[in-house]
This record gives sequence, structure tokens and C-alpha cells, in this order.
Amino acid sequence: MSEKGFYLSHYVARTNIKPPERVYIFDTTLRDGEQTPGVTFTIDEKIAIARQLDRLGVDIIEAGFPITSKGEAEAVKKIAAEGLQARVAALARTTKLDIDRALDTGVDYVHIFIATSDIHLEHKLKMTREEVKQQSVESIEYAKEHGVTVEFSPEDATRTEIGYLKEICRAVSEAGADKINVPDTVGVMTPRITYEFFKDLKSVTDVPLSAHAHNDFGQATANSLAAIEAGAEQVHVCVNGLGERAGNASLEEVVMGLIAQYGVTTGIVTRQIAETSDLVQRLSGFYLLPMTPIVGDNAFTHEAGIHVHGMLSHPGAYEPLTPEIVGKKRRFVAGKHTGRHAIDSMLEEMGVNPDRAQLKAISAEVKRLGDRGKKVTDADLYAIARSVMDLKEEDRVKLKQLLVVTGNTVTPTASVTLLVNEEEFNGSGIGNGPIDAAINAIRNVKGNLGEFTLERFSMKAITGGTDAVADVTVRLRQNNRYVTSNGVSGDTVMASVEAILKGMNRLLHNG
Ligand code: KIV
Ligand code: ZN
Repeated sequence: MSEKGFYLSHYVARTNIKPPERVYIFDTTLRDGEQTPGVTFTIDEKIAIARQLDRLGVDIIEAGFPITSKGEAEAVKKIAAEGLQARVAALARTTKLDIDRALDTGVDYVHIFIATSDIHLEHKLKMTREEVKQQSVESIEYAKEHGVTVEFSPEDATRTEIGYLKEICRAVSEAGADKINVPDTVGVMTPRITYEFFKDLKSVTDVPLSAHAHNDFGQATANSLAAIEAGAEQVHVCVNGLGERAGNASLEEVVMGLIAQYGVTTGIVTRQIAETSDLVQRLSGFYLLPMTPIVGDNAFTHEAGIHVHGMLSHPGAYEPLTPEIVGKKRRFVAGKHTGRHAIDSMLEEMGVNPDRAQLKAISAEVKRLGDRGKKVTDADLYAIARSVMDLKEEDRVKLKQLLVVTGNTVTPTASVTLLVNEEEFNGSGIGNGPIDAAINAIRNVKGNLGEFTLERFSMKAITGGTDAVADVTVRLRQNNRYVTSNGVSGDTVMASVEAILKGMNRLLHNG
């Protein structure tokens, strides 16, 4: 066990891999990440992300590609004027116009790229290798005359003929490039080939190298780490692995791999990782699968009995990292794999203390529901315990009436009447759709219910067809307490409202 909170392989400590002591994190969420089909950020959203990336401690924020549009240039300009600790970079092709547009935003770091692989030269650029080299050199010299830091990327480097790639690397180094970024533009590399590739490139230039891996074969993180093993000093990453097609290397995975598995120093404040990931999930609308490493909902969640038992004895038994390091919390969930010991500990946290016979009955019910394919939320476990233990605790909040109006000519609007300790309270709200409106109406009820944040919302159709039964699961937070609950109904709004009310009742009991 390490006092740093990592529980890793002893073998790692025995290898003689010597990566650079300090690795620089170049975040391109706002540029390559925004190229994810279906993702666009408003200027305000970009600023909010840039501020959070700064709190996270990335070294460089690639804020955008100014030539793309007025709005893009405006966003880069505003981020450059934020006075952040991080350097702010703008992307440009190898033309004076692009470089001028980048410089106009006030950044002091320009990232210049041009493709170097034959497939791009012949079919996209219609240029010769010599012309590409010449243009690269001239554009670097031009940008350097303006006193900015210049990073150069030979796009599609990993499919470029290696002799020519080395020639380009030498030429741009002599032209004054401060860093050479090596893009695996269509993610074709493997970790071992990446290692050899970077070693080879290191032999032709002293300019620091950077890795830019795409995830087409699911190896972007491994390839980025292999590049670092070979001596690259920087990695390009995106929060949540956003990016074109299968995405870019994930910031969370690469950074935690570097720190925990390689013992490398970065500027990252790891406790900010979860918050950064959450913000980008919300603003991009791209939500991560629960089993996503480091930041997924299940990354530090345990259900199986043997695991939970082990975890309760020593947290390192089934976790390689302590969740707090990345700003997350450990969670135990009840399911058919959960043993009595774990259920007892979950109930104790809820302030419920069953005797042995009651615990046995509660566990049996949890297993029965699990066998029927039912997810057992915190609210369900609490309800089972209440029923087994005959605890006559009434729900404090009940739905009396809900009315929702929606359509193509009106803003979705809801009004709700809740019984809070049998007293009537009304609320109303509007939203992006009927579910959002209904939840906002509940939030606006003035019944001393306390504020809650809806951390997660997911809906699945249990049956097929337009009359499918909806199963909604929500995770609510009130101060530092989290609860999960669900609702099932043939009406998606009612399933959502049921889930929210169950969660609120859980928060209000033993609050
Ligand atoms: O993947 C890529 O090649 C790029 C370059 C613009 C660096 O994103
Ligand atoms: Zn890219």
C-alpha cells in the first residue's frame, strides 16, 4: 500500500523504464474535442471549460482554430484574455492568413499543421513533398518572427514515409519550431510500434516531441503512454476522450496512467478530474458509459459480495487508486451478488440497523429482485428494509397532481401539486421538454424540501414499441449526500417524476 493512494503492481516498480520526469499536458478538448460529430460549444461554454481546465492545471489549452469562423476566433480571443495560468494556443494551417488569424486573437502559442502522408498529399493537398516541407518551414519562420511559441504537427505522421517524416522534422527544427507534435491522425498505431517510432524520431531532433493519439483501435491511451516511455515530453489529450470518430486520447486515463503507473510529474491537480469530466459531459451532451476508467459511474462502485467484503477490510483489495485522488467517491450498490455483510454496511450508512433475521430477509429480497433483472437502487434498498423491519415511516413527499403541456407551438410547461407532510404545495416550471419542465416544477415547490442537484438521469425502454415501459434511474445530490432511485411507468414523464420523488424522500429520511 502506498501513502499516495495507489495500489499497483510490484512489477511496475521493478522495470527500468525511464520516462521524462515532467510531462506537459496539452488539452485539445476545445479544438479536436469540439470536432466530435454532434458537439459544439457556445463561447460561454468554451470559457467555462477553459477556466475549469485551468483549475485542473493543464499546461496548454488549445482554444480553437480561429480561421474556422468568427465565433471560433472570438472564443479564442476571450480565452486568451482570461489571464489563465495555462498557455493558450490557437491552431493554424501553414498559410499566412491562418497564422495571422491565430495571432489576431492575442495568443502567444500557435500550433501549425500540414499533412505529410502521401495519401493526403496526393488526394487532399495536391502538393509535392518538397512543397509541403517548404511551406512548413516558411510558416514556422513567419510565426516565429512574431515572437510566439510554435508547435508544429505533421498531420498523419504515423502513415508518412519515415524517411520523409524525419526530413520534415529536421527542417522544422532548424526553422525554429519549439515542439513537434506527432499525430496518429487515424489511430493506426500499437503501443510497441509507437515506442519504436518515437525513439526513431528522437534520434533526428532535440526539439521536444509530443504525442497526439486517436482512438480508432481503442489504443489511444496505451499509445500515448508508449510515446512517453520513448521520451516524448508532451501529450495531447481531450477530456472524456472526445474527438473525431472514436475520439482522442482521454485526459483522465493518460494523466492517471502517467502519475500512478509511471510516477511522472504533471501540473495536474488530480482532485479536479471528476469535476472537469462532469462539466464536459454536461456541456457536450456526451455522457460516459458507467464502466469508463477513472471517471465512469462504476469506476469506484462495488456490488459483488466478495469484493465488497474485501473492500470493507482494505480499500486497496479491489481498487488500484483511491477515488478521492480523482475527486470521486467510493459507492457500494446492492444487487444479487451482494453479501449480507455489505448490505449491513450500506444500511448502517442510511441509519438503519436490522437484526440478523431481518438482515437475512432483506438480503433475500435484494437477491430475488436481482434474479429478476431489477436494478436495486438506494431508495429500493431502503424501502425493502422499511418493509422487512416494519418501520412505519411514511413518504414525506407525495404527488397529488401533475399537469404538463407540450407541443410544437408552446414551451413545455408543467405545474405540480405535492403533499409535503400532508400539506399541499404548488410549483410550476418550464423546460426543454416535458420531463425537464416537470422536474423544474418540482424544484420550484416551496415546501422546505431543500435544494437537490440532479447528477445523473438515464432512461431505458423495458419493452419495445411506442408503448414501451420506461425505466428511469436518477442520482440526486444534496450537500455531500448522494442517492439513486428509479421509477417505472408507461409514461416517461411519470417514470421520471416517480424516480425524483423517491430520491427526494430518501434524502429527507435520516437527512
Ligand atoms: O489528428 C490530427 O492530425 C490533428 C492535427 C490537426 C494535429 O488533430
Ligand atoms: Zn487530432
